[in-house]
Amino acid sequence: MRKLNLGVLASGGGSNLQAIMDHCEAGKLDAAVRVVISNHSDSRALARARARGIPAVHLSGKTSPTPEALDRAVLHALRQHGVELVVLAGYMKKLGPETLAAYENKILNIHPALLPSFGGVGMYGFHVHEAVLSSGARVSGPTVHLVNGEYDRGPIVAQRAVPVLEDDTPETLAARVLVEEHALYSEAIQWFAEGRVRVEGGRARIRAPLD
Ligand code: GRF
Repeated sequence: MRKLNLGVLASGGGSNLQAIMDHCEAGKLDAAVRVVISNHSDSRALARARARGIPAVHLSGKTSPTPEALDRAVLHALRQHGVELVVLAGYMKKLGPETLAAYENKILNIHPALLPSFGGVGMYGFHVHEAVLSSGARVSGPTVHLVNGEYDRGPIVAQRAVPVLEDDTPETLAARVLVEEHALYSEAIQWFAEGRVRVEGGRARIRAPLD
């Protein structure tokens, strides 16, 4: 089967990137990571990519003088590597308008809670899990969604629930959600590789698999 070309953007640890690369290598995902872009030159994500021989590019306000130049540089890197699906994996910057337009409905993000709750500006990292715990919700879990101009508001593609336990801390809940992120992200990317996702009326529709 032809492989779907992925470009992954990550700011930090890159454990989701690692899971995606591992699933590609194990043949569980009909995709290949062609480039990894980070806004931090010393991010673990870039090191993980280099360890696999995957082009790893640092692009930030330090390498591009203006937000417009950064937007163009990101888009150029994605195109240069033939990227078909952009995968945000803990990327802490907003994408620029040129990249968003060029990859409309072809940019995924993963969020560590069940959207549309617990998303939006300021909802990142442990803030998300703190908000879930203080709400009294009994379930949480990752959401994979398409990216548009608004934080955490694009069409939902996939979700998975995990229980919130009585003695959870933001750390224990984050760890339980992260395990599911690693499985769910690849599952959703595979749907794109199989051409099963279409966006209609602002919603993502997933076709059943062919037998
Ligand atoms: C994950 O919790 C993801 O949901 C969020 O950022 C975190 C990235 O973790 N968007 P990692 O860098 O993949 O380990």
